[in-house]
Amino acid sequence: MAKPNTRYVCQSCGANFSRWMGRCESCNAWNSIVEETVREEMPKGLGRAKGKAIEFVALDGHAPEALRRATGNAEFDRVTGGGLVRGSAILIGGDPGIGKSTLLLQIVTAVAQDSKAGAKPMRSAYISGEEAVEQVQLRAKRLGQQSHAVQIAAATNVRDIIASLDKSDPPDLVVIDSIQTMYLDNLDSAPGTVAQVRSAAAELIRLAKQRGFVLMLVGHVTKEGQIAGPRVLEHMVDTVLYFEGERGHHFRLLRAVKNRFGPANEIGVFEMTEGGLQEVPNPSALFLAERRGSVSGATVFAGIEGTRPVLVEIQALVSPSPLATPRRAVVGWDSSRLAMLLAVLETRCELAFAGNEVYLNVAGGLRIGEPAADLAVALALISALTDRPVPDDVAAFGEIGLSGEVRMVSQPELRLREASKLGFRRVLMPRRRDGAKKERGSVAGIEILEIGHLQDVLDWLYNEVRSLSAGKKVLSQ
Ligand code: TYD
Ligand code: MG
Repeated sequence: MAKPNTRYVCQSCGANFSRWMGRCESCNAWNSIVEETVREEMPKGLGRAKGKAIEFVALDGHAPEALRRATGNAEFDRVTGGGLVRGSAILIGGDPGIGKSTLLLQIVTAVAQDSKAGAKPMRSAYISGEEAVEQVQLRAKRLGQQSHAVQIAAATNVRDIIASLDKSDPPDLVVIDSIQTMYLDNLDSAPGTVAQVRSAAAELIRLAKQRGFVLMLVGHVTKEGQIAGPRVLEHMVDTVLYFEGERGHHFRLLRAVKNRFGPANEIGVFEMTEGGLQEVPNPSALFLAERRGSVSGATVFAGIEGTRPVLVEIQALVSPSPLATPRRAVVGWDSSRLAMLLAVLETRCELAFAGNEVYLNVAGGLRIGEPAADLAVALALISALTDRPVPDDVAAFGEIGLSGEVRMVSQPELRLREASKLGFRRVLMPRRRDGAKKERGSVAGIEILEIGHLQDVLDWLYNEVRSLSAGKKVLSQ
């Protein structure tokens, strides 16, 4: 028997509570808890009726490869692990205005053409719950991408949408923009609540599996928590992509956080232009484009995002503070990691950051999650504090432990090669095992400066700057 019940549901993470709270205990979001009516099925035992026996097969049996189609948009294909998989559901989350609708419009028009591998054009249905049909048409026109194979509609009632798609020859690709505008008319909750968003997505995903079309759901990330965020859907879909970027910057990053059909943590880089989103095949060049060489506090980190090496500039600023507890602010990196590094620099290298404000910024709007950035961050901090610029032909990577030791990280060769490709001549990195040195040799054109302890970084920078200023004196004589 179904019993109507009210619950307090966090619109950010979907957690349930029995009473209202100002802050969600599960995800720590403020003001995200909303009262919702839920029909709860009373838990019942199985009763006496017997079920059918399920069939087991051996793990090493033969399974057909997932039917996958490349979209022709190289960055999108990289992030999805090779393109769209038949019958799969993809969630694309992101802040409002970041460019989700633009990206999806470009994808549906890209797959409407013959693929390079010879696959047939895909027929797509683009269902917008936010914009009128004319607005979508206008945007397609502006992008110079109009196609007969793309059908558009403005609708929000899931019952109507299901009725239009549940047929023997449904479209190959269905875009729902956005899932928060969709509603089921038999639910009491308002569109955008956790209950509506989950049920609407469940219905659409079930149909996608049954009819074999690719389903792409747009989900707005919301800070206020008035409507449900995409996190409440993450477990229901096969692939979760987040479209990120700083407002005011024109870079956009598409990041796979979950992917049943490919690697997670892969990123695709785009640039938002007048003519829509352009693919950026070489992100390092873009992230370093505005770099001004030899400024104190700036260094280049040789990082890895997914399977691709990415070089970014790390900027630190250290300034005296009148406050009792000086400010520490971080953009693009983990603030607790910064606190740890500062503590290590203070205790192991006797550098005094206390009494100073510390600001750290990853240029270009990228967010770095790798601990491999520690060494570059430490170098930037030391350089900022001592006002000694790091030479501009130097890049760095390595993880730092609590005793100040520098530890090896994954894929050093890939990082070195990317640094060499972009014209760097010296790389500060952790000590390699003797075997590793012999096995792999060195990367052409790169001088490797092996660092065992943070103290070595300090000594190196000190000597470097001294020899540089000595050189300048000789020249001016
Ligand atoms: P949009 O795709 O509507 O964002 P979302 O669906 O994530 O809310 O994109 C919104 C922004 O993108 C808008 O501020 C204008 C900008 N834009 C461009 O700069 N160039 C373009 O060609 C297009 C279509 C949009
Ligand atoms: Mg939109």
